[in-house]
Amino acid sequence: MSQTRPRRGLAPDVKTAALAAARRAGLPGGASVQPPGAALGQAQKQVSKQAPSVATSVAPNVVPDLASRLASERLPPQTPDPSVAQRQTFSAPSSRAADAGAGQTARSPLGRASAEEEAPVDGSARGRISGAEGGLAPADLAAVGPVPAASGDLSDRGTRLGGGPSSGPISGPTSGCPAASDSRPRGVHRLEDWQQMQAIDRATRALGLASPYFRLHEGRAEARSRIAGQECLNFASYDYLGLNADPRPRAAAGAALERYGLSASGSRMVSGSRPAHVALEAALARHYGCEAALSFVSGHATNVSLIATLMGEGDLILSDAYVHNSITTGAALSGAARRSFAHNDLAALARILENARPLHRHVLIVVEGLYSMDGDLPDLPGLLALRDRYDAWLMVDEAHALGPVGATGRGIFEHFGVDPGAVDIWMGTLSKTLAATGGYVAGSGDLIRLLAHRAPGHVFSVALPPVLAAGAAAALALMAEEPWRVKKLQANGAHFLARARALGLDPGGGQGYGVLPVMVGDSVLAARLSERLLARGVNVAPVTFPGVPMGAARLRFFLSADHEPAQIDEALGLCAEELAALRDDGLGRLFSGAAPRPTASGDSP
Ligand SMILES: Cc1ncc(COP(=O)(O)O)c(C=O)c1O
Repeated sequence: MSQTRPRRGLAPDVKTAALAAARRAGLPGGASVQPPGAALGQAQKQVSKQAPSVATSVAPNVVPDLASRLASERLPPQTPDPSVAQRQTFSAPSSRAADAGAGQTARSPLGRASAEEEAPVDGSARGRISGAEGGLAPADLAAVGPVPAASGDLSDRGTRLGGGPSSGPISGPTSGCPAASDSRPRGVHRLEDWQQMQAIDRATRALGLASPYFRLHEGRAEARSRIAGQECLNFASYDYLGLNADPRPRAAAGAALERYGLSASGSRMVSGSRPAHVALEAALARHYGCEAALSFVSGHATNVSLIATLMGEGDLILSDAYVHNSITTGAALSGAARRSFAHNDLAALARILENARPLHRHVLIVVEGLYSMDGDLPDLPGLLALRDRYDAWLMVDEAHALGPVGATGRGIFEHFGVDPGAVDIWMGTLSKTLAATGGYVAGSGDLIRLLAHRAPGHVFSVALPPVLAAGAAAALALMAEEPWRVKKLQANGAHFLARARALGLDPGGGQGYGVLPVMVGDSVLAARLSERLLARGVNVAPVTFPGVPMGAARLRFFLSADHEPAQIDEALGLCAEELAALRDDGLGRLFSGAAPRPTASGDSP
């Protein structure tokens, strides 16, 4: 499994490139004797809050200024790269960032009586919320030039938005349009996101970093996988109970495929359901002790659609600072006011509720049952108490908790011994433990009726393919029938925690439930570490800014019941060895000003 370790340390040309990048950005360090860390640190302060898709610590350090310079330059032609899977720009959209959009209104959807229903809507809560997480607002677009009209012939625009010299001029307002010889960027190249992606791409190439994203698995991504011809241990796929490879869900899916075909061929409301939908939803409702459940074709779309349907102008959405992008996107689209509270800080949540509850019609609190970046749990009983005290609704996203959390994997309610019927809205995905694709909501019969008739992702989108509904239902049944899977996953989690700490690695907030971080700090360090580990036969993805706060980059290990303790030992041993080597070479110091070396106890500074 282990292979020759790649050359250690930053090559001199990489250091030179970093300094040159600082110099090009017009930073003092580029021209003077300042150490690179200090010079690049100044650029870090310039990170724009309107750059949610800038990933990597190259971004915090050197990219913002490069990006703003590039905004006024013409970018070179972009040639599609056939090997993009291996050499993609080392940038990923934030899983937590979202932009705001149009508002909607909704009324008392949950079947719970609410005294606030008749209360007047407060003007302060109205309209688009300027998200602290940023994004391109219409004003930003206006600043970079004319853009296509919001409606019109999308097929036409699709080609033209490819940009580049071969693209024709964009349709739309002609006054002020650049002449054909104008050297300003065109099409998609005008967008800040594009320009930042390009800047990151250049910076990462200058640093000699390969992209850690879009790696190509040649077969099933299980505890082992084959990536680019190389066998490796795989910790980057969330098949928590090892059911993706199990023949039984596949057999159930195969039978559904034969019976119903590949697609549901339309929205449930218009084109009708299949028995596979009904069976899955009944099983999910039983699981959560709720009256009903509803499936959607995508987990992400479930959150977007659900939240935007329930909440609207005059309402307030309060979400944990670490919730997934699908939640913040749904909140932004709803038109409700939205606030986030510090991760798992119920005192902070209570303060907001105390001040803001009287000003809003409906209030929705949204948390996750197992946090997908940190691997920790919310205080469900505490949240229920606040929900009751302030007459709010509580929604729990169980995407990662179903399977890993609770003695038999039933989720966060089982962990705390709470009646699942006490939670207003359960949301989850079929794509993790249930080895399929899609999302679901479970709750009161009236909530589900409302969503089935009003949620755009249900009404205006094709139904979950019956083949996936059948496979997911079989996986859910197996979770209950074979409790050893949950026990083994949890034993693997406990083993990981103990081993990581023994090696001086910092597992952050990870509590041993399937998602386990190894905190690294600097984003470039995390990316380089992931690259080194792949070269030695371990596939684990880095999570970098802005997916996590700056300075909190990590490797994120997804564990499975299929992993063996010896495989975890091997991966962590290599991780500790490579991380120490990279830190000895000063990589952490170069990009963050200080090397976040773990203490003997494994705590990060
Ligand atoms: C907490 C959470 N909710 C929702 C989603 C979206 O689910 P899906 O990937 O199945 O669309 C994810 C995705 O990872 C997630 O982590």
